[in-house]
Amino acid sequence: MIRPLFAPDRRSLLIHAGVAVAAAVTPKILTAAELVATPGQTEGPFYPVTFPPDMDNDLVRVTGQAAQAIGQVIHVSGRVLDLRGQPRPGSVVEIWQCDANGVYRHPRAAGQGRIDHAFQGYGRTQVDDQGRYRFRTIRPVPYPGRTPHIHFAVHVPGQGRLVTQMYIEGEPLNDRDGVLNRIRDPKARQSVIIPLLAAQAPEPGALHGRFDIVVAA
Ligand SMILES: [Fe+2]
Repeated sequence: MIRPLFAPDRRSLLIHAGVAVAAAVTPKILTAAELVATPGQTEGPFYPVTFPPDMDNDLVRVTGQAAQAIGQVIHVSGRVLDLRGQPRPGSVVEIWQCDANGVYRHPRAAGQGRIDHAFQGYGRTQVDDQGRYRFRTIRPVPYPGRTPHIHFAVHVPGQGRLVTQMYIEGEPLNDRDGVLNRIRDPKARQSVIIPLLAAQAPEPGALHGRFDIVVAA
């Protein structure tokens, strides 16, 4: 089911402006031969039942909360592309993940009593005309049975919805994660394992990961 979509708010647009600067400084050129279709992954049981009032692309700050989310701040940015490397403007990217205590904002998720109310848990943003998106969130943590991951859903106009998960390079549980290792093709599996680096982070103390999402036509 395609859910109703919303235009990015002012904060989203400002964060997008930051993407434009970063992209201009460090262009990454992909050739069509390098592109691997992003593998689909299970949505899992914790896609929101109801959406939070604040669901912009900054999950670290929740409207009305004085505190910032607990956890290591990360920025995740990238582009939504087709297999020829062409951007897919109009796409909407959603993410959802557990907080720093390993708790999802979901009525059936364990640990609701220790949830971090300052963490938004879910966000969405529309890509710009170059297919670019950006989120500010926290580094995902492991929870029982899973290596750290961020859930992604990408709505591509005229093409439906791709659901996948992003993983962190170097996490010791990656090799034993059943969902990640269900991706049998090594290139496809590697395409969803992303290094987090301080070098390109747009704020002190944060890390940055680049996750391009390639949708098959
Ligand atoms: Fe999950």
